[in-house]
Parts: sequence; structure tokens; C-alpha cells
Amino acid sequence: MTRKLETKTIIVASHNAGKIREINELIGPLGFEGKSAAELNFETPEETGTTFEENAMIKALASAKASGMPALSDDSGIAIDALNGAPGVYTADWAETGDGTRDFAMAMEKVEKALQEKGATTPEARTARFVSVLCMAWPDGHTETFRGEVEGEIVWPPRGTAGFGYDPIFQPKGHARTFGEMTSDEKHGWKPGDAEALSHRARAFKLFVETGLEA
Ligand code: IMP
Repeated sequence: MTRKLETKTIIVASHNAGKIREINELIGPLGFEGKSAAELNFETPEETGTTFEENAMIKALASAKASGMPALSDDSGIAIDALNGAPGVYTADWAETGDGTRDFAMAMEKVEKALQEKGATTPEARTARFVSVLCMAWPDGHTETFRGEVEGEIVWPPRGTAGFGYDPIFQPKGHARTFGEMTSDEKHGWKPGDAEALSHRARAFKLFVETGLEA
């Protein structure tokens, strides 16, 4: 990063329990402590952007301004080739039930239905990627973003109960298990010092770390 972190506490600009857990797992070994926007009762800002970068910036800036401290957000989603990149930035919206809750079993069924309607039944026709854009923002409005992507395919039926969101239907390229069948460490596939990472979030995080975090 062009700007260094001068604090060991980072505000994790998220209300999503799965993401908060994964971000804490990634920053912990580097000696940082996360405090989430959910714990601090910050309001959830409206994600009005049309790109992962824009939405990541909206979330990180909202938490940085509310806390007066550096804040890290993640805007992520799954882009499916046969669906022209959908659900993309609308990945969370596909799980909305209408009463303010999210149902990922339903969202995964929607994905499968859309793929069936396109006749996408072979692995080659079901390619997809998970995208994560991390944004570090400071209270004065400075931001830095990092993008990670992992290629894979959509499988059906869902497999595994680990992880969160769409993990049970995403099988990363070169692997025989879905993210839902992997431990958290296997899904990240990275720890400080490693040359490679697996998940989109860990890949973005690796870039974030490589650009220099120390105060
Ligand atoms: P947002 O970034 O809060 O707009 O939402 C991201 C959406 O993508 C959520 O619905 C997540 O469940 C989904 N998502 C993001 N990253 C992952 C992941 O690592 N595994 C499974 N689902 C994910």
C-alpha cells in the first residue's frame, strides 16, 4: 500500500458473519485485531455501485468515517460465464427473501435453474469465478483496493457444509472438492509468506499484504 497502517486494530467493514470470520482469520496471523461494523452497530450503507470496487469503497469509507479509524471492506460475488457474469455484484441480492433475511439454499437453486435454462449441463459450460475486492479506507477519504479472483465451476447438487454463501456449489479449478467441503485453511490456501493463495479473498489479501502493512 502507499499508505501504512499505524494501528493494530482494523475495523472490518462488514455485517456478514462468514466474511468477518474469514477476514479475522487472514489478519490475525499478521498481528492485527479486527473489530467489525456489526459489533460496533454501524449502519449498513447502501451498495449503490455497479462494480465490486465501487461497493467495496462505499463500505470501507462508511466504517472509516464512523469509527475514525482505518477500515477494511470486502465486496465479493460469483460471476458465471453462461449467465453473462451474473449474479456478479448482485450475488447477495439473489439470496434476498423479501423479509430482510437471506436464504442461500434458495439462491443456489436459482443459479442452478438459470444454468439449466441455458442448457449448461457440462462442466465446460458451467465455468465461473469468485471475485473479492478488498478496500482499505482511512477517515480522511484515502482508499486502496485489491482484487482477487479464483476460477472454477458450478456443481450440482451442493456439496459440503463448511464456509458460507455459495461455497457448496463452487469447485475451484484443479480441485475435487467444493469450498463447502474444505476447511477454512484449505479454502484460503494461504498463510503469511506463502507464494500462492486459493480463495478469491485470500488472493486479494495476499496482494494487500505484499504491498506492505507495517506502520
Ligand atoms: P456483498 O459483497 O456483501 O455484496 O455480498 C457478497 C455475496 O457473495 C454474498 O452473498 C456472499 O454469500 C457471496 N460470497 C462472497 N464471497 C463468498 C465466499 O467466499 N463463499 C461463498 N459465497 C461468497
